[in-house]
Amino acid sequence: MTSLTAKPSACPIDHGALAGLKTPTGCPVSRKAAEFDPFEDAYQQDPPEYVRWSREQEPVFYSPKLRYWVVTRYDDIKAIFRDNLTFSPSIALEKITPTGEEANQVLASYNYAMNRTLVNEDEPAHMARRRVLMAPFTPEALKEHEPMVREAARAYVDRFIDDGRADLVDQMLWEVPLTIALHFLGVPEEDMDTLRQYSIAHTVNTWGRPKPEEQVAVAHAVGNFWQLAGKILEKMRRDPSGPGWMKYGIRKQAEHPDVVTDSYLHSMMMAGIVAAHETTANATANALKLLLQHPSAWREICDDPSLIPNAVEECLRHNGSVAAWRRLATKDVKVGGIDIPAGAKLLIVMSSANHDERHFEDPDLFDIRRDNSSDHLTFGYGAHQCMGKNLARMELQIFLEELTKRLPHMRLCEQKFTYVPNTSFRGPEHLWVEWDPAQNPERRDPRLLDTVHPVRIGEPSRHAISRTMIVESATRLPGDVLRLRLKSPDGRPVPRWTPGAHIDIECGDSGLSRQYSLCGDPDDARTLEIAVLRDPDSRGGSRWLHENLKAGDKVKVRGPRNHFRFDEGAQKVILIAGGIGITPIGAMARRARQLGIDYELHYSGRSRACMAYLDELRQLHGERLQVHASDEGGRCDFAALLGRPQAGVQIYACGPVRMLEALEQCCAGWPEDALRVEHFHSTRGTLDPSKEQPFEVELKDSGITLQVPADQTLLAALRGANIDVQSDCGEGLCGSCEVRVLSGQVDHRDVVLTRAERDANSKMMACCSRAACGKLVLEL
Ligand code: HEM
Repeated sequence: MTSLTAKPSACPIDHGALAGLKTPTGCPVSRKAAEFDPFEDAYQQDPPEYVRWSREQEPVFYSPKLRYWVVTRYDDIKAIFRDNLTFSPSIALEKITPTGEEANQVLASYNYAMNRTLVNEDEPAHMARRRVLMAPFTPEALKEHEPMVREAARAYVDRFIDDGRADLVDQMLWEVPLTIALHFLGVPEEDMDTLRQYSIAHTVNTWGRPKPEEQVAVAHAVGNFWQLAGKILEKMRRDPSGPGWMKYGIRKQAEHPDVVTDSYLHSMMMAGIVAAHETTANATANALKLLLQHPSAWREICDDPSLIPNAVEECLRHNGSVAAWRRLATKDVKVGGIDIPAGAKLLIVMSSANHDERHFEDPDLFDIRRDNSSDHLTFGYGAHQCMGKNLARMELQIFLEELTKRLPHMRLCEQKFTYVPNTSFRGPEHLWVEWDPAQNPERRDPRLLDTVHPVRIGEPSRHAISRTMIVESATRLPGDVLRLRLKSPDGRPVPRWTPGAHIDIECGDSGLSRQYSLCGDPDDARTLEIAVLRDPDSRGGSRWLHENLKAGDKVKVRGPRNHFRFDEGAQKVILIAGGIGITPIGAMARRARQLGIDYELHYSGRSRACMAYLDELRQLHGERLQVHASDEGGRCDFAALLGRPQAGVQIYACGPVRMLEALEQCCAGWPEDALRVEHFHSTRGTLDPSKEQPFEVELKDSGITLQVPADQTLLAALRGANIDVQSDCGEGLCGSCEVRVLSGQVDHRDVVLTRAERDANSKMMACCSRAACGKLVLEL
């Protein structure tokens, strides 16, 4: 037993105050939980590493030092973000370290009254405000800022390019995002210099642990910042015309005084500067540090700038600038199976979620070609997801483009990285780099500066996430199956994967790509293996692979990615494969054997002669393998196998649809989740076609009419027709995919629109809502 309750006399924790708390260890607070201290250097240096133990053993725990519940796994954190009614954001800007009387008096002397902005506002006020203030964040509106961002970045690089050595944070990365933030907000140039001094104070005040003697100085800085924000606001009110998000807010106040309140405007004037500045400055410093620590990735983006957008997403995932965020439980609720009482405060560690192997394959690997990097939670998720994320992305992309173009030979100096101790905003205080100015490419070719790459916002391009691999061998297996072993062209290890994972493989220039489960041995760092069944009804994918690929060929591959995860904590598993479904199931059987999990493996096929991998499976699994060959009358009797639910047993199945349907029927009496079947596609935004109706949409502005089939969302149909509609969450939570409806009744399925708006029937969320009748006309 690791609990501190084992030695009550030595225990620093007041267990009385924690009555009723239960952790997986059975003790109120485990030793690791008791030791957790996010103000320690170890957390600052590497938050996901610092809480690795938690992700693995105790994903939801109570921290007595912080007096917060801490949540560290991806799915739990996303579920919290998704439900902003149960998990209120109201404490997001509260001081995490309560200050002493003297500091409080100082703040009061400045009439400091930081209140609700957006990030800490509850519903329904929040969504109403977010929607009124959204327009300046659309990709089209942001495009206007691109020349200013590029110009600022270039001017700062000009200042040090011939020096051979620079602290990128001090000499560029702190100031340029601040200048851009102030421009974006519409702050007059003359106030910029004064504001620069105060920004950091808000971070320390809100998320830090200033010592009592520091608190007073911080309070003066915060108070001054607050007053200055008020003065700037007054100045803007006198003339709210012209560009800038805060000016836009002032103009909107005239139309919606109850939505855009005075208190909001003053609080946002101050919080907005921090939201737009420090987050992005830190993100850029983290990204450059990470890239320079991985010279091959740095070289790749120097050679091919089209890889930059996905590299940015991977940097935000691997080493993001907002490490953790906060929510308040508004009722008794379970998180990850742990009871959390109403009123509990939660620290949700997104930097840990971003390294959760349950969501990201080989999560600690820095892989700029990862195909789900942008699933990271660094920008939050759902109703409050960062509104400025595309501005931040634009800045990161432009900074990286300018630096890779002008200083590709830059390298990190020897140094120790330091961070401002706080739970949430994280980036190195200094980033020293050096280079040989004589090698600056623009000295040889000044025209270099004329080339610029378009900023890419949204989904990464296929090119950016594809990796080239070489076919090491292509062999025929029974049943018209082609076994392909793929290796890296440069002999580097292949990406690691877990059983159930798949890759996408491109079929030459045919424009087709197909997904195949990885089989073989996940411990084999040299090759990835897939098995491709030639499908007689193939639309070209499997046929192309069978007819064209041979050893030595190059192929483009995306992934690995896993939507069919194997629970390594299972007590017993029943593994069922039909035909080529053996590929993920075989990998799971191998893993179960390795881990000593009790398992049985059922493999069905038409005849033994056409069942791939049979000999290998027999050798590896012996008696545990049961072969069911129809030509021997040996069909697997699912009813007998699964007739009675068995506690603690999980069933994994992959095979033809009919087999999976039969299994679902047989498992009707089993606990929900006991049966897990292979889904190649993420369930996000997918529909149950048996319950949906197809419908027609007419796009008035574009003059086209589209059919939306039962298995497709309106958003997917629009994108398929090259109509660019913004979208973030894909499940009707965030409001970014709103489209205007001109006629036709909508079946609303979002949580964004109010009842009155639904009744008015003039808007809909394209990601989830559909037509209630056969046709909609949209203003697109
Ligand atoms: C909200 C991160 C840049 C404006 C947030 C949230 C996070 C975040 C974690 C809270 C999300 C939630 O509760 O679900 C970041 C990061 C940035 C960045 C990592 C840079 C890399 C920006 C920029 C702006 C901005 C440049 C520009 C003004 C906002 C606003 C919200 C927000 C207005 C509140 C949205 C709402 O509550 O509806 N951001 N942010 N952020 N961010 Fe950012």
